[in-house]
Amino acid sequence: MMNQGIESICVLGGTGFLGQHLVPALAQRGFRVRVLTRHRERHRDLLVLPGVSLIQANVHSDAELRAELHQCNAVMNLVGRHAARTESGEDLQALHVELPRRVAEICRTEGIPRLLHLSALNASPEAPSRYLRGKGEGEAALRSAAGQEGPAVAVTIFRPAPIFGPEDELFNRFARLLARIPVALPLACPQAKLAPVWVNDVVQALLKALENRATFGNAYDLCGPSTYRLIELVRYTAQVTGRRRYILPLNDSLSRFHARVLQRLPGRPFTWDEYLYLQLPGTCRENGLQALAIKPSSIDAVVPRYLGVGGGNRLYSSLRCTAGRD
Ligand SMILES: NC(=O)c1ccc[n+]([C@@H]2O[C@H](COP(=O)([O-])OP(=O)(O)OC[C@H]3O[C@@H](n4cnc5c(N)ncnc54)[C@H](OP(=O)(O)O)[C@@H]3O)[C@@H](O)[C@H]2O)c1
Repeated sequence: MMNQGIESICVLGGTGFLGQHLVPALAQRGFRVRVLTRHRERHRDLLVLPGVSLIQANVHSDAELRAELHQCNAVMNLVGRHAARTESGEDLQALHVELPRRVAEICRTEGIPRLLHLSALNASPEAPSRYLRGKGEGEAALRSAAGQEGPAVAVTIFRPAPIFGPEDELFNRFARLLARIPVALPLACPQAKLAPVWVNDVVQALLKALENRATFGNAYDLCGPSTYRLIELVRYTAQVTGRRRYILPLNDSLSRFHARVLQRLPGRPFTWDEYLYLQLPGTCRENGLQALAIKPSSIDAVVPRYLGVGGGNRLYSSLRCTAGRD
């Protein structure tokens, strides 16, 4: 397929969960895709895709980043780390704030006209969680750098709710926890509201926005079609994976205690920053998928296919009952 205007796209963070779905979709549409990675050898599977190059690069070096972005006429920045998954000593400020600013600055000064950026639902410089605060500061830094004098950079920002799909860190994480805990799983923040969005819907949003002028300058919150309590999602995972467990809902003080303790354990099963993240409703006031004419897919249509032992449809009525549809 011929693409008007944009031919070559640099994808930062294209080896991650979302990138593994996005990069093949870009390649299929005929774009030349340059995926920047710290670990080229680990992601050689992407090289089978037509038009995809995998480039070993340190995105924290201005010279390296500039040399790579210079070769593209659009950039997608997917780099990010959830606070629960940060390695010790990793600098989230450099990743979530400085990198978006530097990418926008390079786009502006190199005349790269298009920049798509992945933030997160509820991102705000005032957010209580460090993850959401960093993402919010990153959005502001990116917009300010893109808006300085010089050739215009058309920026579009996406703020997804937790994303689900094969190899997600949502249902797969619950499934791992349920597999490890034999009888009862204590659950912090059981009443937190979430509207998970399917990874392919997020990919469609990025593809639709790429060359659509109506999206320039906009930010889109992206949510699934229904809102659930966290405890419903964990119970659902238990049912889909066939693991009979008692889910023990913790009250707020116990949830706080749980976060403080579990973040010290190997693998950090739950962190204080996640506790803070779950204090904000993970739902969209306006779902950007609707604005982009994408019909969001439900959990029940997808999750049993990659997680389950069957019976997904049977569970649907129990899933949708309490938190309702948006
Ligand atoms: N997954 C979700 O549920 C979700 C929800 C809302 C928002 N988001 C946002 O959407 C974006 C994509 O999410 P994702 O789940 O695909 O992320 P991911 O799987 O964690 O991967 C993102 C990529 O970031 C790169 N990266 C990580 N740490 C880095 C570091 N210190 N320096 C340079 N690069 C680094 C990695 O690339 P290399 O290892 O190849 O260098 C990795 O492949 C992120 O910005 C995330 O915050 C995700």
